Amino acid sequence: MAFLCLSDFQAYAKGHLPKSTWEFIEGGADECITRDENISAYKKIHLRPHFLRDVSVIDTRTTIQGSEISFPVCIGPTAFHCLCWPDGEQSTAKAAQAMNICYITSTFSTCSYEDIVASAPNGLRWFQLYIQKDRQMTKKLIQKAEALGYKALVLTVDVPALGNRLQDNRNKFSLPESIKMKNFNVDVEENSESLLPVSKIDSSASWKDIAWLRSITQMPIILKGILTKEDAELAINYNVQGILVSNHGGRQLDTVPATIDALAEVVNAVQGRIEVYLDGGIRTGTDVLKALALGARCIFLGRPILWGLTYKGEEGVQQLLNLLKKEFHRSMALTGCRSISEINQDLVQFSKL
Ligand code: FNR
Repeated sequence: MAFLCLSDFQAYAKGHLPKSTWEFIEGGADECITRDENISAYKKIHLRPHFLRDVSVIDTRTTIQGSEISFPVCIGPTAFHCLCWPDGEQSTAKAAQAMNICYITSTFSTCSYEDIVASAPNGLRWFQLYIQKDRQMTKKLIQKAEALGYKALVLTVDVPALGNRLQDNRNKFSLPESIKMKNFNVDVEENSESLLPVSKIDSSASWKDIAWLRSITQMPIILKGILTKEDAELAINYNVQGILVSNHGGRQLDTVPATIDALAEVVNAVQGRIEVYLDGGIRTGTDVLKALALGARCIFLGRPILWGLTYKGEEGVQQLLNLLKKEFHRSMALTGCRSISEINQDLVQFSKL
């Protein structure tokens, strides 16, 4: 089978994963309105190309929090990579290192953080945190990540309660015996209220915890899941270093806007004071270009990485990323952009299809 676009990897994964795993990965909350709009919103944004600009040499490199990456696409945090490939997160980390991009490791990894780092010691990695009810354990996780060379703390703020994922409830989804969350002593619980370890997430977390996090780590703090100008202002007042505009791939609160539609509001509030990133629904090179044109510094991939991993582990993830890199490079050439700094709002036009 030839893999010519990201959806080819999706089709492969659908055909090869057990049904309950596939539905866990693809699923959204409630009616999946937001999950689907994350993707369809890009199709309503048209591009405005400029020609005769000598695009024979194109540089796709950029930086995030001061670290260089080879193109503005990185790997977002997703749980349980061993569901897709035997050595799960270790393969993901190797692919990220080979591509010279950032990999955000999920709190809910199925390889130990030590093993992940050992398999790709030179890779750029950030650590995604869910604040656990057990604050001592939370502190230990953060400090372990920092000691292991993680370069930023990505605090996920959009899970004060787990989104209502009907398909996981119907399937009574849980991890197989052989797959464990290796980093702390929480087993996936079996009763229907807590099919996922989310029952351990501290729903009392609040803005004042940003100061607590500051007191226990030197890592820059990035908030993942911000969707409004009000929260973006607060994030700046609390001195965080970055915002990742995200709706958790439509898995949390259904009917929030597509991330590409929420981006402008956040970017306008931030006014360049901190970096703004985006995830959700990125499936093509032109999607990446549109996100950057509207103010994202870089984008993160969720589900597509799991599709690549399912296909062929490290090699599959690399193949998928190379394909997206090629698409992005082509979309820069076709719009007349030679470098990331030339990508701006003039490239896009909103119109009704
Ligand atoms: C996620 N996501 C997520 N986010 C997070 O902060 N911590 C996590 O452990 C997970 N786990 C997770 C598992 C699975 C299977 C999926 C699909 C997603 C959300 C993820 O980081 C990201 O926000 C979305 O997946 C981005 O949307 P796309 O690229 O999947 O459309």
